[in-house]
Amino acid sequence: MKNIDSYSHVRGESVYLDDIPVIRGTLYACVFDSPVAHGGLKSIDTSAAEQSDGVVCVITAKDLVGENQIGGVVPDEPLLAEGEVHFQGQPVAIVVAESDDQARKAAKLVTAEIEPLTPVTDPRVAAANGELIVPPKKFVLGDVTAAFARCEYVFEGRVELNGQEHLYIETQGAYAIPTEQGGIRVHSSTQGPTAVQRAVCRVTGLPMHKVEVDVQRLGGGFGGKEDQGNAWASIVSVAAQLTKRPVKYSLHRMEDMRMTGKRHPYSSDYKIGLDRDLKIIAYEAVFYQNAGASCDLSPAVLERTLFHCTNSYFIPNVTATAYSCRTNLPPNTAFRGFGGPQGMFVIEAAIAHAAENLGVTAAEIQRRNLLVDGDEFPYGQLAESDAAASWQQADEKFPLTRLQQEADEFNAGSKYFKKGVAVMPICFGISFTNTPMNQARSLVHVYTDGSVAVSTAAVEMGQGVNTKMAQVAATIFGMDIGNVKVHSTNTLRIANTSPTAASAAADLNGRATQIACETIRDRLFTVAKDLVEAATVEDLSLKDGFVYRSGERTALSWRALVAEAHLRRVSLSEHSHYATPGINFDWATAKGHPFSYHVYGTAFVGVTVDCLRGRYVVDYVKGCHDFGNSMNKAVDYGQIEGGIVQGLGWMTMEELVYDAEGRLRSNALSTYKVPDIHSVPKEIDIVPLADARSSLAIFNSKAVGEPPLMYGIAGYFAIRNAIRAFNGSSPTFDCPFTPEKVLMNLYSDDRPMSDE
Ligand code: MTE
Ligand code: HPA
Ligand code: MOS
Repeated sequence: MKNIDSYSHVRGESVYLDDIPVIRGTLYACVFDSPVAHGGLKSIDTSAAEQSDGVVCVITAKDLVGENQIGGVVPDEPLLAEGEVHFQGQPVAIVVAESDDQARKAAKLVTAEIEPLTPVTDPRVAAANGELIVPPKKFVLGDVTAAFARCEYVFEGRVELNGQEHLYIETQGAYAIPTEQGGIRVHSSTQGPTAVQRAVCRVTGLPMHKVEVDVQRLGGGFGGKEDQGNAWASIVSVAAQLTKRPVKYSLHRMEDMRMTGKRHPYSSDYKIGLDRDLKIIAYEAVFYQNAGASCDLSPAVLERTLFHCTNSYFIPNVTATAYSCRTNLPPNTAFRGFGGPQGMFVIEAAIAHAAENLGVTAAEIQRRNLLVDGDEFPYGQLAESDAAASWQQADEKFPLTRLQQEADEFNAGSKYFKKGVAVMPICFGISFTNTPMNQARSLVHVYTDGSVAVSTAAVEMGQGVNTKMAQVAATIFGMDIGNVKVHSTNTLRIANTSPTAASAAADLNGRATQIACETIRDRLFTVAKDLVEAATVEDLSLKDGFVYRSGERTALSWRALVAEAHLRRVSLSEHSHYATPGINFDWATAKGHPFSYHVYGTAFVGVTVDCLRGRYVVDYVKGCHDFGNSMNKAVDYGQIEGGIVQGLGWMTMEELVYDAEGRLRSNALSTYKVPDIHSVPKEIDIVPLADARSSLAIFNSKAVGEPPLMYGIAGYFAIRNAIRAFNGSSPTFDCPFTPEKVLMNLYSDDRPMSDE
């Protein structure tokens, strides 16, 4: 079944923030942001901007009615800089004008006197200076010290992982409209309507019931709008409060790239120990997370790095320590995988390191250490594991020895093109690791004409969650999906929402919608039982717009049933709540059962490297993925393909460059390269895991939003293997593997090319 948005998307009729008709009298905001990454803010001169054409006012920290604070986890993030500036791009003043052009022009006229301070961009330097966002976090299983003493082989190394720009097609933005009695309605491009509502309330001083946040859909979020929609919504709300007029701001691409946080770069150390049979018996990892200038979601991201630090492997002795380090970069934030990929890369690097030294393939070590049922994760949860099953099914369909042999044969006959193959098994925990966030609500109305309106906390951002919500209602009411309309995500209809994140939106909101629809259906059945003279309600079912009795269609249509129920004063509406059962986590012991279930899969990635130029192509990504009982194959395969390409982009070509002064140099699409149609794999062939275990998710489906991104990690190792086929070297683990870095590694040892 198609995504229900596909028709309006291709016709350009879907409504994003910038498509909302603008109300007469709307003003436009633009921020003046810090030109330097660190300094003492001595004074701000707004006089020239104030006199500029069309300018209504210029707002600085001292003008705010509420608090100058939007930090959700730790209160360390002023909306507008005060006293000091902490990153290049930090908002300092808001210029409000009659037109967008006038606001942008005037913002350039604001000046600030800033006394330079030394910026820190390296997380290890920040940690050495004691600049931690929160105290370090640690997972311990078994006893690594004793285990290392027993190991046959021990390897140590270091890994550098760069960040990643979200590059949602729709930039950040918001539109605030004053409502009566001092309220505000905010249209926001956010994954977290309630996070926006809280931030707006804080800076305006308004109670939550006076602030309505509405989200129609996003042109992509990828985690970048889980928390970071808050600033822009707060900026327009503050301006609307002070001017009593609607105020809008949508960022230009370069403003967005400069001012918003990204995937966290990490610098990490590992130590891995194996026994004679290549069983990993000890693993130690230390993660330095580059959090940027304020907390944002960094501690939660850091925690997920620890949760996924052993990926799909059982390792009986583990110590993993993680530091969230405050630097002078924009506050880094959620990005598809939420710290998991950074943890998983490091164990894969450690395995590759061991394999290269032991003269075996990494796949040999990977395969021998896959989790099985009952294995304990470092955080105490026991695996119900399909790790080996996905590996076996991938191997049956696409025999790895054959793929490796093809590459070896090709390499034997080719001097300047080399192929590399790598395997990436994944294991991704589903649930917010912060247990209280695992709840959702759904509001379902059946109207007297039989049509159905659904509202949930889920935000549609291209991942197809609205299609899945409509499918839930249509399935339970036995009707065509065209009779169901999924409405905008709105804090008046659904309060206290968790963000659409952690891949769990369909799971949580789908279950809430299921409960609401079943409650209404059961009420209708008590009416129908009378009308069709059924013995019990259990005899009744709904299909194709009719009531069925004992499997036989009756003359009673859905529409007639609904109309009659209304006449009998039976409620046709329901607001339902769902909370994932059975999950818990205690940071005092760092143990618990944080995940409802895990998603497993295994992918084989093959690449060809041009060893004269350093360029490469990804030939294939083949494998087996646990979709559960997919609710919508078209949507889920879209998530698989998009996730893989985004993961490959992070690993191979997307290179964030901050200079020593903390300024983003890769600040536009001319300098920041993302995958295009030419860089997607030539073939993506992912088969569903047969006999997948059941899950608590809606209709036995499984979360699919984030896990496939991590297959992209094999892209890095496949390129590495191709380089090794060329020169036998072991490149340092430094991502992304841009063509430039590949070229340097092809000729790193200054060895002259033979026979030239
Ligand atoms: N797919 C599209 N097209 N656009 C997005 O912004 N975000 C990803 C993923 N897939 C995203 C996407 C992220 S980071 C998450 S957490 C999930 O979708 C969230 O949606 P879900 O919970 O409905 O899977
Ligand atoms: N995933 C995504 N977003 C989150 C999480 C998580 O585990 N916890 C808090 N926000
Ligand atoms: Mo996704 S990083 O959990 O928004």
